Amino acid sequence: MTEGTIGVVGVGTMGQGIAQILATSGRNVLLYDVATPQLSHAHEAISKALSRLVEKEKLSDDAQAAALGRLRGTNTMEELGNCEIIIEAAPEEPALKKQLFRDLSRLSKDTILASNTSSLSLTQLAAVCEHPERVVGMHFFNPVPVLKLVEVVRAEQTSDATIARIESLSLQLNKIAVKIVDSPGFAVNRLLIPMINEAIFLVQEGVASMKDIDRAMQLGAAHPVGPLALADLIGLDVCLAIMETLQEGLGDPKYRPCPLLSRMVAAGHLGHKSGRGFYVYT
Ligand SMILES: NC(=O)c1ccc[n+]([C@@H]2O[C@H](COP(=O)([O-])OP(=O)(O)OC[C@H]3O[C@@H](n4cnc5c(N)ncnc54)[C@H](O)[C@@H]3O)[C@@H](O)[C@H]2O)c1
Repeated sequence: MTEGTIGVVGVGTMGQGIAQILATSGRNVLLYDVATPQLSHAHEAISKALSRLVEKEKLSDDAQAAALGRLRGTNTMEELGNCEIIIEAAPEEPALKKQLFRDLSRLSKDTILASNTSSLSLTQLAAVCEHPERVVGMHFFNPVPVLKLVEVVRAEQTSDATIARIESLSLQLNKIAVKIVDSPGFAVNRLLIPMINEAIFLVQEGVASMKDIDRAMQLGAAHPVGPLALADLIGLDVCLAIMETLQEGLGDPKYRPCPLLSRMVAAGHLGHKSGRGFYVYT
C-alpha cells in the first residue's frame, strides 16, 4: 500500500460514509470487515451514493471513477498494518472494540488508531493498546457525507501530535472538528440521545402519536428531523447502547433506557437498517 492509505474497519452504515468521503477527498482507502459479503455490499453502496452525486451534478463522472478506484477491500487484518491512520467503525460493543484495538495496535507502531465510537471510553480502548498515545476518537455523524461535525476525542493517553493529525485529516475531509475530553457520550450524544430516549417515553406513555412527536420538535424547536425518525436513522441498537453507556458511566438514573426502546431492539426493529423501527421502510 502506498503511504497515506487510510484503513476503515467495519463497513456498515458509518464505515461506508467515512470511506466515501475519504475516497472523494483523494485518499486511498483500505476497507476491512469480518463479514466478507459486507465488503462488496459497501463498495456497491458507495458507488450508488456517488452516482446520486453525479446525477445532482455535485461530482463529475471522472471524479466518481477516481474515487471508486481508490477503494480496496480486504478481510485480512494484517494488511491494515501499512495504513497511516485506521478509522474503526465496528459495532458499539465494548468487548469487541477492545479486542479489535488490541489486535490492530500490534500491526504497526506508527499507525494512528481512531475510533468512531459514539460513547465508549477512548481511555479504556487506549489502555489495551501497545501505543496508547496514538489512540483517539474521531466521531463522525450520520449521514457522514452530509453532516459537517467531527468530535475529536482525547483519551488520557492521546498525544498532542495524534490530535493534530486527526484535526488535519478532518480539515482535509471538509469537516469542522471540535475537541472533546473523553467522557461518556462526549458532547453531542450526551445531549441528543437522552432527548430521543425521552421522546420514546412519550410514545410508551401515549402522550402523543409518533408523527406528532416528530412534527412537534420539527415545528416547535426547528429540528430538521423529529427525534423518532432520527432514532430510526441512527439505529435503535446504537441509541440503546449509548443510553446504557451514559447510565453506567455517569451513574445517574436519569439516563435509564426507555423499556420500549429495549423491547424494540430485542425484537430486531432497529430502524432504517432492518426496514422497521418507529416507521416502516421499504
Ligand atoms: N449509526 C450511526 O448513526 C452512528 C453515528 C456515529 C457513530 N456511530 C458509531 O459507529 C460505529 C459503527 O456503527 P454503524 O451504525 O456503522 O454499525 P453497523 O452495524 O452498520 O456496521 C458495523 C460493521 O462492522 C462489521 N464488524 C463486526 N464485527 C467486526 C470486527 N470484529 N471487525 C471488523 N468489522 C466488524 C459488521 O460486519 C458491519 O459491517 C459504532 O461504534 C457506532 O456507535 C454510529
